Amino acid sequence: MKPRILVTGASGNTGRPIAEGLASEGFRVRTATRSTTPPFPSTDHVRFDWADPTTHEAAVDGVDRMYLLVPALAEDPSLLVNPFIERALARGVRRVVLLSASAIPEGSPGLGQVHRFLREHAPEWSVLQPSWFMQNVSNPQNQHGASLRRDGTLMTSTDKGRVGFVDAADIAAVGVRALADEPSHDTAHVITGPQALSYDDIAAVMSRVSGRPIRHVHASREEVRRHLQEAGMPEAYASMLSGLDVTLRDGAEDRVTDTVLRVTGQAPRDFETFARAHASVWR
Ligand SMILES: NC(=O)c1ccc[n+]([C@@H]2O[C@H](COP(=O)([O-])OP(=O)(O)OC[C@H]3O[C@@H](n4cnc5c(N)ncnc54)[C@H](OP(=O)(O)O)[C@@H]3O)[C@@H](O)[C@H]2O)c1
Repeated sequence: MKPRILVTGASGNTGRPIAEGLASEGFRVRTATRSTTPPFPSTDHVRFDWADPTTHEAAVDGVDRMYLLVPALAEDPSLLVNPFIERALARGVRRVVLLSASAIPEGSPGLGQVHRFLREHAPEWSVLQPSWFMQNVSNPQNQHGASLRRDGTLMTSTDKGRVGFVDAADIAAVGVRALADEPSHDTAHVITGPQALSYDDIAAVMSRVSGRPIRHVHASREEVRRHLQEAGMPEAYASMLSGLDVTLRDGAEDRVTDTVLRVTGQAPRDFETFARAHASVWR
């Protein structure tokens, strides 16, 4: 029988396509979100909330592998996630695939500590380290989605720094392989799209394909932090994200990797193609 795989964040940008991709390959998929209603027709769904430990045990019961999506939590996520992984491994989970980020090196505070814990303790593991999601400009819940809809702006302090923007569907495609393949990948995958682009570049593409002028507002780190907090982001997360903008300005994400093509056999989607598919959200 195929392994049973728990997919957390199954209503999200990566969790949903991962759950659907695994189901289409015949894996027994258990979806997990904070709702009791599955995000799509699923016979095995659990309510799972990182903040509510009473939901954790049932989620991993009978599970062989799991995909971990850790949302913006108030405190250091490793304090919550590492003990969860430890208990899951003790109950028989063998493989864990974690969504982290290209900007979070193994061993750094937060998800970097979860990454290290997995490499040292999980029998089988992978860490997905994507660059910035293209969905940040299309999904209203993501960083720039709301301001783009409201007034056609995206505010950063990245200046002319370039980023290897990647479609969440391509991140998910790598995640499906990391969960499904034999043998386990046992590695970290740094995942980018096919080009490194500045925010000025993507604003120009979005303007062209939507027909609405889209403007990249060049701001200071402090202005970006305030803007994110006003949009409802927790203070610590807003501070972290605005700090990352400065690293982007200095070239930290100005790179592309061949991970998507190498792991999935399919080239990653470029920004122009993504923008054409989402143009209606900016009109
Ligand atoms: N955005 C980027 O550019 C970027 C780049 C690199 C890495 N990342 C990483 O991507 C992750 C966020 O991804 P995303 O922004 O695309 O979000 P998302 O996956 O689209 O949405 C968050 C998911 O988490 C679930 N969720 C939220 N709070 C939860 C909780 N307390 N307990 C259990 N599940 C919860 C949500 O489900 P329900 O609301 O249905 O419960 C939803 O499925 C973060 O770990 C971030 O570090 C993002």
